[in-house]
Amino acid sequence: GLSWELEAHPTLPKGKTVAVVVLDGWGEATPDQYNCVHVAETPTMDSLKNGHPDTWRLVRAHGHAVGLPTEDDMGNSEVGHNALGAGRIFAQGAKLVDLALESGKIYDDEGFNYIKDCFAENTLHLIGLLSDGGVHSRLDQLQLLLKGSSERGAKRIRVHILTDGRDVLDGSSIGFVETLESTLSTLREKGIDAQIASGGGRMYVTMDRYENDWEVVKRGWDAQVLGEAPYQFKNAVEAVKNLREETKCSDQYLPPFVIVDDNGKAVGPIVDGDAVVTFNFRADRMTMIAKSLEYKDFDKFDRVRVPKIKYCGMLQYDGELLLPSHYLVSPPEIDRTSGEYLVHNGVKTFACSETVKFGHVTFFWNGNRSGYFDSSMEEYVEIPSDVGITFNVKPKMKALEIAEKARDIILSGKFHQVRVNLPNSDMVGHTGDIEATVVACKTSDKGVKMILDAVEQVGGIYLVTADHGNAEDMVKRNKAGNPALDKSGNIQVLTSHTLQPVPIAIGGPGLHSGVRFKRDVPNGGLANVAATVMNLHGLVAPSDYEETLIEVVGN
Ligand code: 3PG
Ligand code: CO
Repeated sequence: GLSWELEAHPTLPKGKTVAVVVLDGWGEATPDQYNCVHVAETPTMDSLKNGHPDTWRLVRAHGHAVGLPTEDDMGNSEVGHNALGAGRIFAQGAKLVDLALESGKIYDDEGFNYIKDCFAENTLHLIGLLSDGGVHSRLDQLQLLLKGSSERGAKRIRVHILTDGRDVLDGSSIGFVETLESTLSTLREKGIDAQIASGGGRMYVTMDRYENDWEVVKRGWDAQVLGEAPYQFKNAVEAVKNLREETKCSDQYLPPFVIVDDNGKAVGPIVDGDAVVTFNFRADRMTMIAKSLEYKDFDKFDRVRVPKIKYCGMLQYDGELLLPSHYLVSPPEIDRTSGEYLVHNGVKTFACSETVKFGHVTFFWNGNRSGYFDSSMEEYVEIPSDVGITFNVKPKMKALEIAEKARDIILSGKFHQVRVNLPNSDMVGHTGDIEATVVACKTSDKGVKMILDAVEQVGGIYLVTADHGNAEDMVKRNKAGNPALDKSGNIQVLTSHTLQPVPIAIGGPGLHSGVRFKRDVPNGGLANVAATVMNLHGLVAPSDYEETLIEVVGN
């Protein structure tokens, strides 16, 4: 059987306190006014970098380095934390769905055959994020699924869209809805009754995460299942245009709407006998809707009417809860994560973030598993996030509370690894509010300082890194790297992540003085961090892990 025991590191001792800090959405880019990491006062992060080539470097956080289909795919928290925690690069959901669609295997597997039974008499509903962002879903995958399903018997199809503007430019939703409408009209020409049935902005409708605010999921349920929403339109393009104008909401925050027929009746509520697919591959923002669609016992909101449906996820979203039980594509099998190894090797582990990022340093870190490996060795603390606001309003978020918690735990000496995610640069960066993002970065830096001070006091070690870029570039750029202006000559604010590398820094009084970053891993990425952390705990990583970033020189 598998041995969990790790070899002792030849030089580095066991038993040190190691703080692992992940700055969410903190990349390295050319300094200019749209680089909030640069604009912000960040004395702590600056001091880790300046003049310390042996203990500060950049690592890759996008594309192939984190298991995404292409080098044009920006990084994201799911794949970033998966790589950080698992120490290996796994083909991720985006890629696995591409392969299953390309080979047609998706149509032979259990999930599709399960829902196919409904096609003759009932409706197929597809619910998910409508964009080409590639973080949670992709429009081209939806289009292939629509084609494939209709060729395999689906006669009545309803799409429930969630508008993006977060992984893609705000305002781009209109174009994505137009593209989808033309795909659906092609299907209609072939005699298939295919329409958009409902919609809403992803941050306000359906795509909450980590149980931050069930109202978000309820709004989606009402529109998608019950066919009820505050706004009704005959056509989805008109809906998005109109709501952007009328409510002044950005794509991310559009209120829910339903599409109605000439008699004012919703065209696509979900009813008994229907098939439902949530077509996002990424888990965090699908888990809650999956529970509401799948669980018999459910008390998070009043579902009013619970249709007997056949429900299938694009992927299985939670490997521990086995949720949902039916899925079109098998998720990456992220096994033997560093977290699991460390508890087997006596490393007591503490992890903390606030709600909106809590699952990143636990669930994603542990290979998309909720829960502890060994509750006697681990403690995970969630600090409640503010609910019902956009984080540009409170850009400090709970970063200092998270840092205080980490500080207290470090000083308590009860844990060997103290792991946190500081959310600000990402969550505020996603709002597109540049001034607020500067405050966010400054706050994260203060949080880092607080943690590093505690490390100093206990003679520990720190490793500070990030999961992907965001706040370091807040503007859409042309090939030359200058802001790309829109038709009216304005800059276009970038709410999304980036392709930039992220910093990694190590240090602290407990770090052996001969430790430095190796010079022969120029393409090191996030997946190299796990072996590095294992070394800092005095252990050698399993041989199939991506190699460590550090070496010990001199004596
Ligand atoms: C989100 O879900 O908020 C964005 O699509 C991606 O952000 P994250 O990968 O940093 O969570
Ligand atoms: Co993000």
